[in-house]
Amino acid sequence: MAVRIGDIAPDFTADTTEGTINFHEWLGDSWGILFSHPKDFTPVCTTELGAFAKAKAEFDKRNTKIIGLSVDPVESHQSWKKDIEDTQGAALNYPLIGDPDRKVADLYDMIHPNANDTLTVRSVFIIGPDKKVKLSITYPASTGRNIDEVIRVLDSLQLTADYSVATPVNWKDGEDVIIATSVSDEDAKQKFPGGWKTLKPYLRVLPQPNK
Ligand code: BEZ
Repeated sequence: MAVRIGDIAPDFTADTTEGTINFHEWLGDSWGILFSHPKDFTPVCTTELGAFAKAKAEFDKRNTKIIGLSVDPVESHQSWKKDIEDTQGAALNYPLIGDPDRKVADLYDMIHPNANDTLTVRSVFIIGPDKKVKLSITYPASTGRNIDEVIRVLDSLQLTADYSVATPVNWKDGEDVIIATSVSDEDAKQKFPGGWKTLKPYLRVLPQPNK
């Protein structure tokens, strides 16, 4: 079954490079990002794992735990770790799930048989502190992810969880935002006393409220 925005992220217990983890317990009150890799000892995955490791401090700043998954066993991940450090200049500093029986991959619908019936696609799930899925993105095996984009959408998700705003195209942290269409002008006066610019009645722009 597909896991969709608004669904409770399926819970699981799995072996990882940092021992056995119960997913929901491990998440605690944090935000979480679960991302899958097709296979160990593959080139694009190696670069992605290194890039996530380099960006770990950015996720920590955002109260967000990161966890990877590859369908190979943890013993294989432990050997692969050395290659990641050697070639990417960053040691794995977050858990990597071993999923040889594809229990987690199946739970999250990470295997797309018309792409490949044994390897996972590159899924990204962002999960809120309420354990609900806030975002999912899917890439094919041949295309590495963009970590800056993962951080950008996390910033948007965290902002829009706290304020009645939405973020426009290509928005980055610190740029102007849009008042949610569900907020009337009258309510907006209370929520945003600093005011806003009305470009159209449905397009009201204001500086990012938490800056
Ligand atoms: C890669 O990470 O480079 C990769 C993995 C599986 C299939 C194709 C590419």
